[in-house]
Amino acid sequence: MSELIIEQPLLNINGLKTHFFTKRGVVPSVDGVSIEIPAGKIIGIVGESGCGKSVTSLSVMGLVQRPGKVVEGTIEFEGKNLLNINKTQMRKIRGNEISMIFQEPMTSLNPVYTVGRQVSEALTIHENIDRDEAKKRVIEIFESVGIPEAGKRFNSYPHQLSGGLRQRIMIGMAMICSPKLMIADEPTTALDVTIEAQILHLMRELRNKNNTSIMMITHNLGVVAEICDYVYVMYAGKVMEQAEVNELFDNTLHPYTDGLLRSMPRMNSSDEKLYSIKGVVPNLMKLPKGCRFSPRCERATERCLRQEPELYRIDNNHSVRCFLYESGVKK
Ligand SMILES: Nc1ncnc2c1ncn2[C@@H]1O[C@H](COP(=O)(O)OP(=O)(O)OP(=O)(O)O)[C@@H](O)[C@H]1O
Ligand SMILES: [Mg+2]
Repeated sequence: MSELIIEQPLLNINGLKTHFFTKRGVVPSVDGVSIEIPAGKIIGIVGESGCGKSVTSLSVMGLVQRPGKVVEGTIEFEGKNLLNINKTQMRKIRGNEISMIFQEPMTSLNPVYTVGRQVSEALTIHENIDRDEAKKRVIEIFESVGIPEAGKRFNSYPHQLSGGLRQRIMIGMAMICSPKLMIADEPTTALDVTIEAQILHLMRELRNKNNTSIMMITHNLGVVAEICDYVYVMYAGKVMEQAEVNELFDNTLHPYTDGLLRSMPRMNSSDEKLYSIKGVVPNLMKLPKGCRFSPRCERATERCLRQEPELYRIDNNHSVRCFLYESGVKK
């Protein structure tokens, strides 16, 4: 009899709750989120501003600052719960096995050191190599992320580089230790579309070459369509829909995902007025009763205003948090 082998995901976030304990009250930024990232896959996390995407990624990195705190759940990396390990162990994993590209590249580069020195340091902290060898490796990585005149750029300070080049430096820094998992928080949002395309291409290559898993945080569904294998749609701290990428676009179920898709600009309809989801993301300290999307939902019923739906599993690669699909989907 053949045994069924269930592959363990590289990263397994389960029931994560990260809350901020502010003077005004508790902000449940991440409110019971479960995300699986298999080895070699690119997973997209999408949702409007303030949905908890960055806080989720900071939780994985162990970088949530006070008054924030992970209050529930587990974050298993290769089967080890990152919430149970000490700071030294976490520091070792961070930057070595898991690396991150932050939403604000300028704030994560130190203005007083050359970019070459900063990336070399990222390398020498984790590997026992001398300065010349480190410099050689850094120049190689700069070349591979498409930085022209990489040798010269090694000695540049961050302010001497364009936004696009700085972002490439950050990606180079995130790649240099060949991490198993790379978390990229809006890596291309500030860049123009040609540079964006190049960087997405680079990340796909990284995955193909090294089998790196990537957690791609973005509010841009075009980026998701371009590069992701699987997608999680977050709203006000919760996952509302998750699906394999083609399935999400071809068989969109949640009214929120549908709204996000309809508000995407399309090239061939420039004179058509762009749809926008009515209303705004709620104040997380005053979440509406029932489904948190119900005040903005065109399909909300009386039940949605009082009861919160679970995440219903539609099939192996699709789940949705909406009563419309409580008893499955007619296909
Ligand atoms: N230090 C903090 N104190 C209080 N609330 C916080 C803090 N940091 C984040 N939050 C709240 O947590 C929620 C989620 O924030 P987060 O940064 O994860 O959103 P996001 O989905 O990454 O949005 P964006 O697309 O704008 O980057 C927001 O409502 C935010 O106000
Ligand atoms: Mg963010």
